[in-house]
Amino acid sequence: MSTRNGLFVAVALALAAFPLTNVAAQSPPAPRFGTSATPAEIAGWNIDVTPNGAGLPPGSGTASVGAKLFAANCATCHGAEGQGIPVPGHGVYPRLVGGIGTLKNNLPIKTVGSFWPYATGVFDYIRRAMPFTHPQSLTADQVYALTAFILWKNGIIVEDATMDAHTLPAVKMPNAHGFFTRPPPETANIAPIETPPFRPSP
Ligand code: HEC
Repeated sequence: MSTRNGLFVAVALALAAFPLTNVAAQSPPAPRFGTSATPAEIAGWNIDVTPNGAGLPPGSGTASVGAKLFAANCATCHGAEGQGIPVPGHGVYPRLVGGIGTLKNNLPIKTVGSFWPYATGVFDYIRRAMPFTHPQSLTADQVYALTAFILWKNGIIVEDATMDAHTLPAVKMPNAHGFFTRPPPETANIAPIETPPFRPSP
């Protein structure tokens, strides 16, 4: 009997000696990889707003309401006028206002007003990430109002404009056309990587 057949017989004998139920009972427990996310849990994470406004929730707000919210929740870090605040040894809490038209300068001032291409992104960012120490604590109305305040401080909308799911996507940002899609790298004239020929071991 060859070694291979001998092994087969040995396995067959082992299986006969231990009924399958016994084998299953002794196998290690299935890995516990958690539970399936519920629709409510998924909805909690599914908060992205696209440039055209898809994903914006119901609600609305104006700059005057946003001014009070900004003073109470944001000004300690971003400055009362959104001018940013230096943090000694750590750079600066971001400036949110101004710098429009400076992007081609040697020292461009990048702010929400000067740099960001979509007004809807301001809503998404604030709702998702601010205030820095209490992210996702604001209501939709509050986020609309804060977005309106920052856009107004940048001179992009008028003070009494109401921002909501309909008006916000229509706001044109100064740098809306400052971004381009990076073209794919040129690969047509690059030789394929040579792989050594397969040589079976003797
Ligand atoms: C404790 C300090 C702090 C508070 C309070 C705070 N922020 Fe911020 N904010 C930051 C920091 C730090 C960043 C930069 C985060 C990063 O780049 O990862 C930032 C970034 C931002 C940006 C993006 C700026 C850019 O150009 O990238 C916006 C918009 C913003 N905050 C709005 C707000 C609003 C609105 C509030 C109040 C509801 C607020 N922040 C409260 C610290 C704070």
